[in-house]
Amino acid sequence: MTDDELLTAADAIAGRAYAPYSRFHVGCAVLTRDGRVIEGVNVENAAYPLGVCAERTAFARAVVEGYAPGDFVVAAITASPCGGCRQWLAEMRVPRVVFRNGDRIVRMTIDELLPEQFEKSSLV
Ligand code: THU
Repeated sequence: MTDDELLTAADAIAGRAYAPYSRFHVGCAVLTRDGRVIEGVNVENAAYPLGVCAERTAFARAVVEGYAPGDFVVAAITASPCGGCRQWLAEMRVPRVVFRNGDRIVRMTIDELLPEQFEKSSLV
């Protein structure tokens, strides 16, 4: 599975987003080390802050299916990931991401996406 194919999967799943408030549909497709593709979409709520981003639904789904941080190769997203989702990508130790930003396709490592990451170990 190439990055372009994964981004195409993210584009396709974005059609399932539940985004009646923003009307901004986001799709995320994550490639696991064992070759599976796990997808997510944004799911909004009338109480706006309760909405969930596509990246988070994808990773929550992956965890339910038995995957853990370090089990992922790359995440493809139809939009530039928000700050909170960058932290989720870091938590899941996704080494790199590919995403659309307007007309451009951007590729970044997790360190480029979120430099100087917060880690729990820095608290102890
Ligand atoms: N959104 C995502 O799904 N992922 C991001 O990284 C950026 C924002 C969603 C949240 C909301 O449903 C809509 O896009 C508009 O902000």
